[in-house]
Amino acid sequence: MEKPNPMNRNDILSGHFARNFAGKPDLIVRAPGRVNLIGEHTDYNDGFVLPMTIDYDVRIAACARPDRTVRLYSADMNKHDTFSLDDVRRLGDKPTWADYVRGVAAVLQQAGFRLRGMDAAISGNVPREAGLSSSAALELAAITAFRRLNALELDPVRAAILGQRAENEFIGMRCGIMDQFISSLGKADHALLIDCRSLSYEPVSMPAGASVVVTDSAIRRELTDSAYNNRRAQCEEGARLMGVKALRDVSEEMLEAHQADLPVVTAQRCRHVVTENQRTLDSVKGLKRGDLAAVGELMNASHASMRDGFAITTPEIDTLVEIQQNTPGCFGARMTGGGFGGCTVALVRDDALPALVAAIEAQYPARTGRTPQVYVCRAADGAGLA
Ligand code: GLA
Repeated sequence: MEKPNPMNRNDILSGHFARNFAGKPDLIVRAPGRVNLIGEHTDYNDGFVLPMTIDYDVRIAACARPDRTVRLYSADMNKHDTFSLDDVRRLGDKPTWADYVRGVAAVLQQAGFRLRGMDAAISGNVPREAGLSSSAALELAAITAFRRLNALELDPVRAAILGQRAENEFIGMRCGIMDQFISSLGKADHALLIDCRSLSYEPVSMPAGASVVVTDSAIRRELTDSAYNNRRAQCEEGARLMGVKALRDVSEEMLEAHQADLPVVTAQRCRHVVTENQRTLDSVKGLKRGDLAAVGELMNASHASMRDGFAITTPEIDTLVEIQQNTPGCFGARMTGGGFGGCTVALVRDDALPALVAAIEAQYPARTGRTPQVYVCRAADGAGLA
């Protein structure tokens, strides 16, 4: 998909602001979406993840108001929302775009921050409902707008935690910390190794000569939240039965020793998480030595583990991954994100990129009847001024 010139996007957003509110915005902020290179369903198990921001983001043009009213305009949906900071509620059962901003306003105030009202025009180019964290990007963009307009003392780690809290408590999705953390703390041309227990992190330089290819499978599953919460519960059950705080504390040997204490399916779920943590750490080592073949093999193994052990892939996604794994010059490919559809991520040698895109575009529709959307992504900086 074509990436519009960023300056131009700011001008267009300022135009929306001027038409819907008065005058020019005080500032324009942005927060990126993300792709997870490896480390799936490990974040809420206190484990390790290796996501990367993508150069697609959500932008907000905003002005502070003297009162306690927040007026929002979504340029992408041509919709308005108005609410008072003294009474922040969900709009309806199914969360809408405005609920993410409302949620952020609610948790910031619960955390003790004093907010003024604002007028804000919002627009983004992160594909929605594709598993690329457009909602985390919206949350972090809204937090950044409130932070700057109110001069809040809020560091990027706390911003991520509050974004996750908005998602957990206001939206009702029990996600881990990964998506908000990378949108807040990502660094251009780097992936980020995050220890989801200590919240320490380390930027890992992305290798020259290889591209990150994100492909939307066009598979959407409505039941994602319930399946996600089910896997989370199975992991928590496994940790409880093994007498540890979280699966982060379990080694492969320990899991082996506890086989008889765990229901078969629970043991399979736990095996995915335990081995995925190790694959994530090994991938960081591979990236640091420039051993992309090793990283690719770990990505392939991660996919197999999500397919066979964690059971969160679909036949179409498996097909899409297989097409990429079979293309010469592709180091490895896997599903990325929560599962049951969404996107795949592949690491490919630059000179093999055209062949990979051609293989996806020819074979995936022929084998599944679905139309893929391919994005060649670079890591952008985390949330900040646009
Ligand atoms: C979703 C959640 C994340 C993480 C991934 C799976 O993206 O929002 O917190 O759990 O699924 O790795």
